[in-house]
Amino acid sequence: MSRKRPIYEGKAKVLYEGTEPGTIIQYFKDDATAFNAQKRGTIAGKGVLNNMITEFVMSRLAEIGIPTHFIRRLNMREQLVRKVEIVPIEVVVRNICAGSMAKRLGLEEGMKLPRPIVEFYYKDDDLGDPLVSDEHVLALGWASPEELEEIVGYSLRINDYLCGLMRGIGLKLVDFKLEFGRLFDNEFSQLVLADEFSPDNCRLWDAITNEKMDKDRFRRDLGGVEEAYQEVARRLGVLPES
Ligand code: C5P
Repeated sequence: MSRKRPIYEGKAKVLYEGTEPGTIIQYFKDDATAFNAQKRGTIAGKGVLNNMITEFVMSRLAEIGIPTHFIRRLNMREQLVRKVEIVPIEVVVRNICAGSMAKRLGLEEGMKLPRPIVEFYYKDDDLGDPLVSDEHVLALGWASPEELEEIVGYSLRINDYLCGLMRGIGLKLVDFKLEFGRLFDNEFSQLVLADEFSPDNCRLWDAITNEKMDKDRFRRDLGGVEEAYQEVARRLGVLPES
């Protein structure tokens, strides 16, 4: 039996060497962590749903001209993606104040922001992914000025598109986290959207009831975690038949 070679195991995914040169297989686990892995658990079936939801979102974004690392879904838990060099910043876009922003600034969760806010966090688990400014990103060379401009431009376009898509299925896109990577072609590099888009890394509230339909149900012990992920997949039309 041929076994794929693991390259990296993260909190919610395992990366294996891909079947074609320059590719990687993303395997979606059911494991869930929160608060920088201080809280751990599993969400039954999450990996399958996040694989489907990410495939759906990445495919729609490619259609509107956002370059992504996604190639194709391989099976229920795996997708083939391009191998990229990850830009070491997490980009968070916020439409409604929640989570760490509400806590940091003493604001009420649920406050609609006058315009989307883009934040950068330095990707470093040991430091707990600290909030940084564009000055840090540029001065410390984590991205070039051209790359940072492109990252912000793509992030806002993704936000515009996904806000509309979610509104159409009765969900408010409160905030989300993106990661970008570099694809190399000789001396040129192209920036592409990488990682995943799922209820693990966004906040989605029901448009009518404001019920949380994302990982906050796990973080805050609200119950109904599996059901919330399933409902998001169902509304997007990607719930696998059981
Ligand atoms: O915790 P905070 O309010 O900063 O999170 C903002 C958004 O980014 C949330 O949708 C959260 O799920 C996501 N996030 C993430 N990975 C992190 C930190 C935040 O996906 N390491």
